[in-house]
Amino acid sequence: MSDAPRDADDGYFGESIAADYDDPADEMNSAETVDPVVDVLARLAGSGRALELAIGTGRIALPLAARGVPVAGIDKSRAMVGRLRAKPGGPEIPVAIGDLTTTVIGGGFSLVYLVYNTIMNLTTQAAQVACFHNAAAHLDPGGTFLIEVMAPDLQRLPPGETVHPFHVGHDRWGFDEYDIARQGLTSHQLSIQDGQARHVSIPFRYVWPAELDLMAQLAGLQLRERWGGWHGEPFTGQSRQHVSIWEKPLVAADRPGPRVGPDQNRGA
Ligand SMILES: C[S@@+](CC[C@H](N)C(=O)[O-])C[C@H]1O[C@@H](n2cnc3c(N)ncnc32)[C@H](O)[C@@H]1O
Repeated sequence: MSDAPRDADDGYFGESIAADYDDPADEMNSAETVDPVVDVLARLAGSGRALELAIGTGRIALPLAARGVPVAGIDKSRAMVGRLRAKPGGPEIPVAIGDLTTTVIGGGFSLVYLVYNTIMNLTTQAAQVACFHNAAAHLDPGGTFLIEVMAPDLQRLPPGETVHPFHVGHDRWGFDEYDIARQGLTSHQLSIQDGQARHVSIPFRYVWPAELDLMAQLAGLQLRERWGGWHGEPFTGQSRQHVSIWEKPLVAADRPGPRVGPDQNRGA
């Protein structure tokens, strides 16, 4: 059995993951999955520019650029970005190699987006907060930050259990292991390819919608919409994922300090 190697710079998205990422047989690469995403993003970008945090191989960025939206990206994996650059239209997309929580790419954007659960690849609350700050810093006033992420799946855990199998097939098995106290989730995937067993375990931090709203608020953003999917479905207690859109106000909100009047907070 081989473990997918973790490259020091590329993180969990080294060459072995990048090589299979664009598998046309995978539903995530189908027109049914990609087109509704691109429709929403193109609408939000309007006549402005879009920045994809964690642009990867350009699964979303390339079809968005093909709609005429100028797209730029940030990603820390050279292996993933190498795949993007090898595709038609890829070399025209400016990509900064670096951490999405700190890397700055020039120019203002009407849309910043982070899809496919990638906020969860940031495994600390501090890093997720920093992601919102970096997104907000790239936005023009009136611009939007969009995240697509799964709703924490804890309702699927039987009481006392910490492991949830999410795929059991004939040549691929996936289990999510929860660390409830730390909001941690390690996704274990085993597969058989060409007679070879392959194993990869990737750590995530699951995050609650209300927690994301607070992160947005800390970054000066306001919730505009939250859907249960890319077709604008209502977000409910049964939703498995959400698409959330925060906007940067046209005028930065006044942030008065704590209002403690002369008669407040005094003992009786
Ligand atoms: C699941 S892929 C998503 C790629 C693309 N957004 C898509 O929808 O297909 C996750 C991507 O996030 C990148 N990534 C993960 N953590 C990152 C970080 N801290 N900074 C920059 N990129 C990161 C990985 O290199 C990888 O390309």
